[in-house]
Amino acid sequence: MILYLDNTEYILFRSQTALKGYASQNFLQMSQNKRVNPKVHLSASTLLSRLWISAALVAAASAGSALAQDSTSEETPRRWAKPTPDPDRIMLTWSGDPATSQSVTWRTDTSIANGFAEIALAAAAPGFSKTAESVQAKTQSLCLDQAYSNPDWTVHFHTATFENLSPDTLYAYRVGDGKERWSEWFQFRTAKNGPAPFSFIYVGDAQNGIHSHWSRLIRSAYTKQPDASFIIHAGDLVNNAHTDLEWGEWFEALGWIHGMIPAIAVPGNHEYRAYTQERKGQPSHLSIQWRPQFEYEVEESTPADLEETCYVIDYQGTRIIALNTLDGVQEQKAWLESKLTGHDAQWVILTFHFPIFNSANNRDNTPRREAWKPLLDKYDVDLVLQGHDHTYARGHTSALTGRETDNPNQVGSVYVNSVSGAKMYQVKTDRWNAYAEAGAKVVRMAENTQLFQTIKVSQRTIEYSAYLPSGELYDAFVLEKDADGVKTLSDDPITATPERSFENTLPY
Ligand SMILES: [Fe+2]
Ligand SMILES: [Fe+2]
Repeated sequence: MILYLDNTEYILFRSQTALKGYASQNFLQMSQNKRVNPKVHLSASTLLSRLWISAALVAAASAGSALAQDSTSEETPRRWAKPTPDPDRIMLTWSGDPATSQSVTWRTDTSIANGFAEIALAAAAPGFSKTAESVQAKTQSLCLDQAYSNPDWTVHFHTATFENLSPDTLYAYRVGDGKERWSEWFQFRTAKNGPAPFSFIYVGDAQNGIHSHWSRLIRSAYTKQPDASFIIHAGDLVNNAHTDLEWGEWFEALGWIHGMIPAIAVPGNHEYRAYTQERKGQPSHLSIQWRPQFEYEVEESTPADLEETCYVIDYQGTRIIALNTLDGVQEQKAWLESKLTGHDAQWVILTFHFPIFNSANNRDNTPRREAWKPLLDKYDVDLVLQGHDHTYARGHTSALTGRETDNPNQVGSVYVNSVSGAKMYQVKTDRWNAYAEAGAKVVRMAENTQLFQTIKVSQRTIEYSAYLPSGELYDAFVLEKDADGVKTLSDDPITATPERSFENTLPY
């Protein structure tokens, strides 16, 4: 639910805990803004009435009000909520080598018992479609109302994997019922064989205000980097793991983008929820939509609980390792170490949800830091892309012991926490000071700011840029690696844009 008050937007989060924290935090910020920002003038009575409304919002959430569900009534479902015989939620992912394979997943209603995908070389002449080859999809039924927040619909998810493709080749594909109900023809390009430059997009938590606020962000990201090879979503894609309306908003927000650009997604804590509204004492389950929607490689040794939530993708000389910070943290250590060795990638990029170095106030992640950071240090991981803290922080660790040089710009691993959706937290008051002993130093932070990142990878450099939804640059660095593996960081301060905080931005 979004409540409009004096042109200020307040978002009622469905998580009771978050709401309780935020209602008070938001109003604290408002009162601070009153002091520092002459444009925001709140009379005592207005502030009191807002506080009263805040209390009412908390009460509403405490009562378990599922306000976002108002729009899922059977009578008037949102346009994107209900499946039809026509394919929607079309999603590219990789379950094999990106140079020779491509997986695609889509949704229909249950009238489509068998799904098919067609693929052809994307020639300029429209007759390319006559050369298409057909692949039958795996089709699975999903009963939405196994989780409390959903209508009693059953939907079909279909997954097809194109194999034996040629590297660096533009293909056209479509998905449908094999007869009349087809999607439009989409295009994708397979990866080159071996190392070659490429770019990608990375975003933190979409999670809240997905349709209303995240749409502009993800579309701006696509506009900035339309040739991105993939998009990393670092967890908390939605707020309530199983709520199908939220997944509908997510797909509506990004439209056809993931029909052309594959997703590398990891689950966050908001992708794990009980099936019942009352969560206390109930087991958490991975979003019922996750595995039907995202097709990733499952190794024989992957524990069933972790399937399609931790995996590796090698893309043009860069190894991307996706990890699950919610489940099997200790179990993944040996697996992670096996993936950090025995490869010839020039760069290793990790993505997961809970950050190693927290940037939101009153948060710390000691167990995961203790479990994984020694490995990240030992193998000198290049870049770690994370979410969860609803703030922005970019920093790095110092150079690996035994590899130090005289270069003052030498670094170990670069760490980023970012947020793309509408929920905003305060940054840690002591920034990353608590992590100084762990060798961490933060360079640029932000609060109350939606951000997306573009990352350009080449043989010797990673060029990183973080942008505001307007497309304005907020943070940037170049990480350079020499032939000996020594890494240096250049990052000219962006003086035109001071660090963003609740103090110098619009009231939240
Ligand atoms: Fe989270
Ligand atoms: Fe989150």
